[in-house]
Amino acid sequence: MARIIVFASGKGGTGKTTVVANLGTALAQLGKKTIALDADVTMANLGLILGLEGKKITLHEVLSGKKKAKQAVYNGPAGLKVVPCGMSLNGVQKVRLERLKKVVLGLAANVDFLLVDSPSGMGHDSITALAVAQEAIFVITPNFASVLEAMKIKRVAERLHVKSPELIINRASGERTDLPQKEIESILELPVLGVIPEDIEVKHAIALGEAVVVRSSKAPAAKAFKKLAATLLNQKPRMA
Ligand SMILES: Nc1ncnc2c1ncn2[C@@H]1O[C@H](COP(=O)(O)OP(=O)(O)OP(=O)(O)O)[C@@H](O)[C@H]1O
Ligand SMILES: [Mg+2]
Repeated sequence: MARIIVFASGKGGTGKTTVVANLGTALAQLGKKTIALDADVTMANLGLILGLEGKKITLHEVLSGKKKAKQAVYNGPAGLKVVPCGMSLNGVQKVRLERLKKVVLGLAANVDFLLVDSPSGMGHDSITALAVAQEAIFVITPNFASVLEAMKIKRVAERLHVKSPELIINRASGERTDLPQKEIESILELPVLGVIPEDIEVKHAIALGEAVVVRSSKAPAAKAFKKLAATLLNQKPRMA
């Protein structure tokens, strides 16, 4: 059974999808059987950033009951398996979110890691995604707005009994304008698992539908994703 880790944030655009794509690829590079699943059913883009756009069978078709989960699994970079989500409005309307947990548990049966890319905010879709988690990681950027939004999602996670979430600080500039890591940890009372720097190579890789850990493996962000993957492997899972 996989470690099922949901990547969430209060604020949108903090880098959840980027982290799931690259951390997932880095785990696959380390030989771990890993699935990255796009649970952002209304604004899907995990498939897009990994060059898997336009697939006919996606999580939409699975959640509408038309297809089996294994039919929506595609080969991504470095052996990562990817379950993309569809982008059509028609597809969204047929989705039955209450099926998500069963789908996730089914996919988790034969792999080491299942990383779930959650929608941002506190809507029904993001709460449903968080509820499938054994573990949760909040992806934040180093500023007050992002930290305060993470506070709200932390409260939701507590109500759902998700144990001991951790943080990833993404888009760190290393400048004094960044909220310091210690301050973030003390405001949120959660530990930081890893820090990913702001890196233009991330944007280049996204534009080409590739993982930065494959395309530019020496780039600062790629190194940080690899380090994060190693950290995850070395830690004891915090099962719900
Ligand atoms: N480490 C980074 N360095 C540079 N740019 C980054 C980095 N991480 C993310 N970005 C930029 O931020 C954009 C948003 O990232 P991403 O789509 O992963 O966020 P998200 O949290 O999934 O957003 P949403 O809430 O809309 O789902 C990316 O398209 C990319 O341009
Ligand atoms: Mg996203």
